[in-house]
Amino acid sequence: MTYSTKVLEHFANPRNVGELDDADGIGEAGGAKCGDLMRLYIKVRDNVISDVSFKTFGCAAAIAASSVTTELLKGRTLEAAVKLTNDEVNEALDGLPEEKLHCSVLAEQAVKSAVEDYRKKHGTRPENGADNRYE
Ligand code: FES
Repeated sequence: MTYSTKVLEHFANPRNVGELDDADGIGEAGGAKCGDLMRLYIKVRDNVISDVSFKTFGCAAAIAASSVTTELLKGRTLEAAVKLTNDEVNEALDGLPEEKLHCSVLAEQAVKSAVEDYRKKHGTRPENGADNRYE
């Protein structure tokens, strides 16, 4: 198994590590098979992710995926954030090895979970109204 230079670089120098004390939303995702855990913290201003950080207990691919995800998320609207896919994370890392693709899925799930947590706490709904869980 070979990691791309980008993966190794994010693993060695992960961006936005740690908790955000005053996070507006916290998301979690766990790997069913490996038991790894990814936690994502977001701050939201005017429907836009203004700050984001992560704490991940996991493999190198999960750490790199978390790190690049924080870069992909900053400045996105909540609607755009929930559309982030593991393919996008994978591309931003110049490709994960096949057997590590599931690690980028954790990132996608953690983002959705963080936005959902924010919406629950702040009583907001997605702009398109397609999701009626908060009615
Ligand atoms: Fe668990 Fe990578 S092996 S997230």
